[in-house]
Amino acid sequence: MTDALIIGGGSGMGLALARTLLAEQLHVTIAGRSADRLAAARAALEPSAAGRIDTVRADIGREEDVAGLFAHTGQVEHVVVTAADVTGAYGRSTDVSASAARNVLDVKLLGAWLVGKYAAGRVTGSLTYTSGINAYRPNGSNTIVAAANGALASLASGLALELAPVRVNVVSPGWVDTPVWDRLGEDTGMDKRTAFAELAERLPARRVGTPEDIAQAFLSVLRNGFVTGTVLHVDGGHRLV
Ligand SMILES: NC(=O)c1ccc[n+]([C@@H]2O[C@H](COP(=O)([O-])OP(=O)(O)OC[C@H]3O[C@@H](n4cnc5c(N)ncnc54)[C@H](OP(=O)(O)O)[C@@H]3O)[C@@H](O)[C@H]2O)c1
Repeated sequence: MTDALIIGGGSGMGLALARTLLAEQLHVTIAGRSADRLAAARAALEPSAAGRIDTVRADIGREEDVAGLFAHTGQVEHVVVTAADVTGAYGRSTDVSASAARNVLDVKLLGAWLVGKYAAGRVTGSLTYTSGINAYRPNGSNTIVAAANGALASLASGLALELAPVRVNVVSPGWVDTPVWDRLGEDTGMDKRTAFAELAERLPARRVGTPEDIAQAFLSVLRNGFVTGTVLHVDGGHRLV
């Protein structure tokens, strides 16, 4: 029995959640596509881990990988999906290729649905997806990512009925300082520090988020047995500005 499967747990928010759960002596499996990323995550987690870590290579855009992932883990109490690949997906829609857009949907939406499909009979506690502020505050240069994120709310509602009493929810982060921003900087030429400072000034919380902020949100959703079919916004008040 695996206590928690974190798909995308090799970096960012998923890695922060893995660290928190491992400190509680739980058995945590992290999954992602890159063996190198998983090995680096394991090396980072192991020194402070009181629990057991497993890593599995899987691309949740591929049904056979999702099936293999659950075959590996067996029964799982909680699943959290943080996986996303937004390479080439930012910019005006006229500048985004259909293949980049399809890739976003394949991972973020279809991959999420595949996890829900294979969760039936295997997940015993909860399934939590990660959407994002751009679903609620699109800015004209993130339309396909916003659409995929927005659709996760509907997916979670449907699955909350299908998989009940397993609880299915979404955590929607605001801007959080994770490696995704470094890749976005390389992709678009955006300067992360300047963008973060400008946003922090406007946000009611007066700062951008940390991976640990989101890990705490995942934990609260995992542990509150009366939360299902909902979206928890953890965005420093970004929807208000
Ligand atoms: N950071 C932010 O400001 C922010 C804001 C709003 C929403 N979000 C959302 O929050 C989630 C977590 O983001 P993060 O910032 O923690 O990003 P991150 O550090 O890039 O983590 C994403 C992880 O997903 C894995 N992944 C990507 N494609 C995958 C696939 N097809 N199958 C399995 N694993 C896959 C990646 O590893 P591999 O490449 O090795 O597969 C990576 O470890 C994402 O869904 C993102 O869209 C982020």
